[in-house]
Amino acid sequence: MGRPIPFQLDAGPRDRRDRPLRDLRISVLDRCNFRCPYCMPEEDYPRDHRFLGKAERLRFEEITRLAGLFAGLGVRKLRLTGGEPLLRRDLPALVGMLSAIPGIEDVALTTNGSLLAARVDALREAGLGRITLSLDTIDPDTFRTMSGGQGDLAVVLDAIGAAERAGYTQMKINCVVMRGVNDHQVPALVEHFRGSGHVLRFIEYMDVGTCNGWKLDRVVPSAELRRRIAERWPLVALPAHYSGEVASRYRFADGGGEIGFISSVSEPFCGDCSRARLSADGRLYTCLFGRSGHDLRGALRAGADDGELAGLIRAVWQARGDRYSELRGIETVRSRERIEMYEIGG
Ligand code: GTP
Ligand code: 5AD
Ligand code: SF4
Ligand code: SF4
Repeated sequence: MGRPIPFQLDAGPRDRRDRPLRDLRISVLDRCNFRCPYCMPEEDYPRDHRFLGKAERLRFEEITRLAGLFAGLGVRKLRLTGGEPLLRRDLPALVGMLSAIPGIEDVALTTNGSLLAARVDALREAGLGRITLSLDTIDPDTFRTMSGGQGDLAVVLDAIGAAERAGYTQMKINCVVMRGVNDHQVPALVEHFRGSGHVLRFIEYMDVGTCNGWKLDRVVPSAELRRRIAERWPLVALPAHYSGEVASRYRFADGGGEIGFISSVSEPFCGDCSRARLSADGRLYTCLFGRSGHDLRGALRAGADDGELAGLIRAVWQARGDRYSELRGIETVRSRERIEMYEIGG
């Protein structure tokens, strides 16, 4: 992981709600080999959607340069996302470059697991600290539905085994729950991961993007899910690991390990959101529900120096007032202009 910082950093910018910049999520491409119904449903995602071409995507050197500037402004955690980030075959090389940035303490990956098994040793060697794997069911048929007919459960379960052998013995397993689609699978998932060392986290289905046909009645509130789980496996609340953690944590009273709930719809956590997001074409988003982002690639490719680029990022962060999830219940008009989850990676 990154070396200790050899110089004194300034405290970094604060946004209009006094939130620091700590966490950068980097989407390395907008393509995915799955078509999850909550993200990129095959029948509904925009037909005219044009995925980014190679020249439009940031090169690894460009990503690394920007990440270094973000580190200088206070970022300590990097997370690689997509689409499916492992569709960029040489991802381990990027991990190596990012891990060497002074000040970066943690490089993590969010993946659907379909391409992980063959690459996991190289990722580990390159310095990848943590893996979060998306898995919405433990039933092969429901898995086909949840991946839009594209994925194979056995492949993902194999990848979990390969990751464990590579040393990732405490992964986070993210499950988006949709009522009437995969919520019947919750007990089987809990049963499967209890005692495994991995932390299963249930995520409320969110109204991200424009194409997932989101409806409130498809959301299973975490409180309801927690009650259902605790009836069978009593739970004990745990304190947050750090301020701004998105999941509320619980442990099984019988020692079966930890479980989490991400309640972005029923209990928004914008208050201490310190996350910035960089799209694959170099736009900076200050919220998951952002409209257009701020173009960093233009300045980068026009030859801006580090001071100019850092100044741009600082100004964007200082102007930030986002708290979409808190306002969701208040605002009635929902914009059609919104970044898609497969462009920004969750
Ligand atoms: P670490 O703390 O680094 O382990 O990651 P994390 O807890 O931030 O979780 P992860 O990156 O796995 O995020 C899990 C899911 O939570 C995402 O896929 C989103 O669905 C949701 N999520 C994460 N960050 C935000 C956020 O800033 N706003 C909202 N509304 N949802 C978020
Ligand atoms: N609601 C909640 N989480 C979502 N993700 C994608 N779409 C949604 C949505 N509509 C999250 C999932 C997935 C990650 C890449 O993004 O957690 O694992
Ligand atoms: Fe599913 Fe993630 Fe692909 Fe979206 S980017 S379709 S959530 S695997
Ligand atoms: Fe942060 Fe926006 Fe999510 Fe709120 S809705 S937690 S501001 S990304």
